[in-house]
Amino acid sequence: MRVVFAGALIAGLLAAPAAFAGPEDAKALYEERCAVCHATGENSAPMTDALKALDPAAIVEKMTTGTMASMAAGLTDQNKREIAVFLTGKGLPASGDLPEVKPAQ
Ligand code: HEC
Repeated sequence: MRVVFAGALIAGLLAAPAAFAGPEDAKALYEERCAVCHATGENSAPMTDALKALDPAAIVEKMTTGTMASMAAGLTDQNKREIAVFLTGKGLPASGDLPEVKPAQ
């Protein structure tokens, strides 16, 4: 069972890393895609700490139809939800067929 799971995980990582995002991956995605502006205030982007105060659903919205949509291009809806939860420390309930995202302990 464990071997099958590990095999599937590796195959998944090779095929589509974004589809396997969890809290750790959300951090990596944020660092890769967002931190260039939000960790530095580049282009007067609000700092990461300021994003923490937002509602996670508003962050997802911003990445889906708002001004951050182009920054989030190529991310899955679940990746966006995971990034929003990672940033705010607040969970998001299941939505459609997307599972609940819980904040890291
Ligand atoms: C090229 C620089 C840049 C990158 C990369 C970037 N942002 Fe932004 N972001 C900004 C700027 C500038 C603003 C302020 C203007 C605005 O709201 O459109 C902003 C605003 C936001 C806001 C709204 C803050 C508020 O108070 O309403 C959120 C949420 C956000 N970004 C999330 C993200 C996420 C998540 C990513 C990565 C997927 C990302 N951003 C990547 C520059 C960037």
